[in-house]
Amino acid sequence: MTEMTKGQEARLVIDGKSYTFPIIEGSEGDRGIDIKNLLQQTGCITIDPGFKNTGSCCSDITFLDGNRGILRYRGYAIEDLAEKCQFIEVAYLLLHGHLPTAAELERFKGLLERFALLHEDMLHFFDHFPPNASPMSILSVMVNTLHNYYPEMSDDPLENVEMTAARLISKIRTIAAFSYKKSMGHPLVYPSNDLSYCGNFLNMMFDKPVKPYTVRPEVVAALNKLLILHADHEQNCSTATVRMVGSAGVNLYASIAAGINALWGPLHGGANEAVIEMLETIYADDCNFDKYLAKAKDKNDPFKLSGFGHRVYRTYDPRGTIIKNACHEILDVLDVSDPLLDLAQQLEEIALSDEYFIKRNLYPNVDFYSGIIYRAIGIPSNMFTVMFALGRLPGWIAQWKEMREDRTTKIGRPRQIYTGEPARKFVPIEERK
Ligand code: CMC
Repeated sequence: MTEMTKGQEARLVIDGKSYTFPIIEGSEGDRGIDIKNLLQQTGCITIDPGFKNTGSCCSDITFLDGNRGILRYRGYAIEDLAEKCQFIEVAYLLLHGHLPTAAELERFKGLLERFALLHEDMLHFFDHFPPNASPMSILSVMVNTLHNYYPEMSDDPLENVEMTAARLISKIRTIAAFSYKKSMGHPLVYPSNDLSYCGNFLNMMFDKPVKPYTVRPEVVAALNKLLILHADHEQNCSTATVRMVGSAGVNLYASIAAGINALWGPLHGGANEAVIEMLETIYADDCNFDKYLAKAKDKNDPFKLSGFGHRVYRTYDPRGTIIKNACHEILDVLDVSDPLLDLAQQLEEIALSDEYFIKRNLYPNVDFYSGIIYRAIGIPSNMFTVMFALGRLPGWIAQWKEMREDRTTKIGRPRQIYTGEPARKFVPIEERK
């Protein structure tokens, strides 16, 4: 972990008494006040709802500058990775800290191929979900239960982490595609080692005994790009969940299942599905932009513009820019005309010139245009967040591994300020009014 201190200190005065705390500086100039000993020294804790100002760790994995719209994995610009890499290369980069050589990539690919099947007994699980079960709930259940079928991580988690990572990255794709096939009532299509990671997923999703699916390289390229763009995003809600759950010592599968559940929320990964629902609603309502912008700005209305805003970005989300361009490309290649793309662009233009959104630095995020690509390649909207999970998985694993390898890791256990009743005398039941 490359944590650097430069001798600066922060001074805090409480009740006239002064305390000093070291300032930590990261390799890109991020600064944080190290308050590890705050409670011990001062008797006070900090309160920071939503952790807007709180760093939970130092990390070597992803750098994000929200003011300048910069995102890098292990030092490499997201733009380069999205343009020049395969998803599994980026997964390797996140897990190992360096881009793989051709031989390393071949070995990793071999592991993914080796682990692509699910234990046949697991297939029975799919039969017992109700027909309309959410694919996110199925995904989280199935990932959790992988521990029962492949428990070898329990003895020494860090020794087996590479195998378990490959197993998870390979099997999650099979689980995702099988859950879709089951929801359609169609026969399962097994993975094939003749196809690439993304090609395999598409084939498992769309191949049918009555109509073979042709894997198009342009569709593979679009999916590859989307998965890379989602692969990590430092300490977001689901990643922080993976680290928090993992800090209790639980296995990797259970930690990832917890991350999947966090991602499900419409404020997080669930926003990609919510965006399409919102665009469809606006479209069906005669494109009444004014009405929906007014709702988004109304503090008494829970409606928000899905796919807009971000905790860290104060400018355009760099992933959003890449996805918007990719959206045009893939729709052109597939000769698809989606009225929701025009609508999304108009909505973006209107919102970006509206005082409310300007003042709050609200821009389209990664989820605003991604659903339009998924629709174009045939992925149904209830699978959009599953796609996000497929992409985010290498990041979750890398963050879990970093947390477990870090000797300074403690179990995640926030404090609180108690605001309930002061101590009171117990009243026997017969005396209670
Ligand atoms: N529509 C309308 N107003 C918004 C929106 C929005 N999408 N996002 C933020 N605001 C307002 C918010 O009401 C607040 O206003 P005020 O200062 O008057 O109280 C101000 O902007 C600051 O927002 P915040 O809610 O304090 O910001 P946050 O960092 O807590 O929340 C967010 C970030 C992403 C949850 C939020 O912007 C949001 O709900 N966006 C819509 C859901 C969404 O697109 N989520 C995907 C995020 S990116 C991918 C991912 O992480 O999964």
